[in-house]
Amino acid sequence: MAASMATTAASGVAAFGSIAAATASPASSSRTVSFSSRGFFAASGEVLGLSFSSCSVRAGGFVTVQDGVAKQGVRGRSLQVRADAGASGPKSGQSTFKVAVLGAAGGIGQPLSLLIKMSPLISELRLYDIANVKGVAADLSHCNTPAQVSAYTGASELAAALKDVDLVIIPAGVPRKPGMTRDDLFNINAGIVRTLIEGVADHCPNALINIISNPVNSTVPIAAEVLKAKGVYDPKKLFGVTTLDVVRANTFVAQKKGLRLIDVNVPVIGGHAGVTILPLLSKTKPTVEFTPEEVEELTVRIQNAGTEVVEAKAGAGSATLSMAYAAARFAESCMRGLDGDSDVYECAYVQSEVTDLPFFATTVKLGKKGVEEIVAEDLEGLTEYEKKAVDALKSELKGSIEKGVTFAKKQAATV
Ligand code: NAD
Ligand code: LMR
Repeated sequence: MAASMATTAASGVAAFGSIAAATASPASSSRTVSFSSRGFFAASGEVLGLSFSSCSVRAGGFVTVQDGVAKQGVRGRSLQVRADAGASGPKSGQSTFKVAVLGAAGGIGQPLSLLIKMSPLISELRLYDIANVKGVAADLSHCNTPAQVSAYTGASELAAALKDVDLVIIPAGVPRKPGMTRDDLFNINAGIVRTLIEGVADHCPNALINIISNPVNSTVPIAAEVLKAKGVYDPKKLFGVTTLDVVRANTFVAQKKGLRLIDVNVPVIGGHAGVTILPLLSKTKPTVEFTPEEVEELTVRIQNAGTEVVEAKAGAGSATLSMAYAAARFAESCMRGLDGDSDVYECAYVQSEVTDLPFFATTVKLGKKGVEEIVAEDLEGLTEYEKKAVDALKSELKGSIEKGVTFAKKQAATV
């Protein structure tokens, strides 16, 4: 959070940066934050010890704050930052989007809701959970940012939570404990996602859907089947959130190669479990050379990063804070696409024809209707290591997709 606040003591400027931001190395005395020209809000007060006063920042790109001096720069499309000076706030000039978070009282749901409450693009934030969500909403509603917050508890309030929202984010479900795979969550989370997606189909069939609940490789195909059965499936609007894999890849590569975090972008393709998570290190921006040993070490670390957190938490859950950060970044990118930004790219797990599998994560371009383009070039010009890894991941991913489809079809048949 602290790193998402750009401050300059000298100018008294502060703004919430786009959560596409990366922070400076902890070893550095500088604080770096990037922001979309429309992805921040002006605020005043003191947050986490950073004094700041009301402001507006009127240029895209990023700001590096070092010794009280702000330096601005721009980044390319791969980091999803607009570089057009002169814009501020939503294109429409007001907060426009209604967003529902399903599972909002959970480990991810709470910090995610806080982060997206800070977006200037949101007019309404609806928090839904089966328990404990009223307090979360009361608490969040005191933040003086534009989004109006409301709480919805249990199945009887799901319809009201979803009515006419533009974006639904789903972190509902159980997390892993040490020794479990993501697929071990299937039996509980598949049913949770199915029920919630039925609600989406009935009450906000045109919304973009961001699925976080694991196993993402299966829960997204489940959602697709439920939407198809309800006659409202639009593959451009359904996303498995894999942003955390990109966030981790960027962090680990920057650390390993001594790069500024804010400059690094590593596309991550495939899916979101074990070997199906494939960072394309050869496509790292800026261009950087890796030894074969570094490729192996980084790939394995990125693939096992979720387990690294599960083990460190020792039974108290899986990644929540980094996931909230990643999901907020992805949600903001979705809304910027909806709002007409022309240069918004993220990796996501979507229906795709880039391989012979029906779902695959690659870079996608986000637009007014969701997925505007799938960047098939991600799969071109791969190294031998990456080509072999793509071949190797397909059988596991295929099995996870089929498991989800079979579950959804069986459930539909018994209703
Ligand atoms: P958590 O247990 O802390 O929170 C889950 C929340 O979901 C709880 O508040 C619970 O009450 C709620 N919930 C359960 N059933 C529900 C239902 N039917 N309707 C609405 N809400 C319901 O778990 P968490 O740490 O927040 O993780 C949530 C999910 O996200 C897990 O499946 C986890 O594996 C997954 N996850 C995915 C990624 C990713 O990269 N996609 C990263 C981290 C975690
Ligand atoms: C992650 O990658 O952190 C999540 O998928 C949670 C998990 O179970 O590892």
